[in-house]
Amino acid sequence: MGCSLNFGVIDWEKLGVEITVAITGASGAVYPYRFLNHLAAEPAISRIHVVASASGIRVLNEELELRTLTLNNLAEKILQSDREKIEVLNNNDIGAKIASGSFPVDAMVVIPCTMGTLGAIANGVSRDLIQRAADVTLKERRKLFLVLRDTPFNLIHIENMRLVTLAGGVIFPAMPSFYHRPASINDAIDQFLYRIMLQLGLKPSKAYRWQGSKVE
Ligand SMILES: Cc1cc2nc3c(=O)[nH]c(=O)nc-3n(C[C@H](O)[C@H](O)[C@H](O)COP(=O)(O)O)c2cc1C
Repeated sequence: MGCSLNFGVIDWEKLGVEITVAITGASGAVYPYRFLNHLAAEPAISRIHVVASASGIRVLNEELELRTLTLNNLAEKILQSDREKIEVLNNNDIGAKIASGSFPVDAMVVIPCTMGTLGAIANGVSRDLIQRAADVTLKERRKLFLVLRDTPFNLIHIENMRLVTLAGGVIFPAMPSFYHRPASINDAIDQFLYRIMLQLGLKPSKAYRWQGSKVE
């Protein structure tokens, strides 16, 4: 089976880059919370299509201690500013614009991504908008990032990661790093999110760049 790891280089020179951000029901609500705020603040991004699974909404409420977050108020509850860039779509609406490859979205990030959604994407199931949009992203040879969260992995998870990688997706496990000595959890999360943004072709100014270390 062929393997193309270089799908979907985004043309940041063009006007109006559009990104889909999907939120599924894995632990780690802080990731989409901070990621959406970082993306919305990027002048080069004109539109962010947000879609959340029912489990995603549930975990956002539990982990952000919001309780009252719904699809209708998601942008208001999560975004500090630039809310007008966000368009929230219903995960049951398989006729939404991002369900078609003819609609020009530049990349899709599933953050966090459950093992269930990974399995559906890896096997082309497309039963809801998130799964369908991910399938479309792969078939159109655009960038797809899956920020997986679970531990440990079973062989089914690992095989599904292999399949998605072969199809051109990027497995981006929610594994923050510590070599930049994060001062807080948010600091660790942000440096992880900047790695995704760098791969998208953005240039987050606070991204830590390793300069090498000396062995005494
Ligand atoms: C609080 C909470 C945390 C969860 N964390 C994870 C997780 O880290 N990884 C995972 O794969 N599933 C996790 N789940 C289970 C998924 O939400 C569940 O399998 C769900 O059916 C996934 O559906 P979705 O992929 O459509 O969001 C969690 C569920 C709850 C309620």
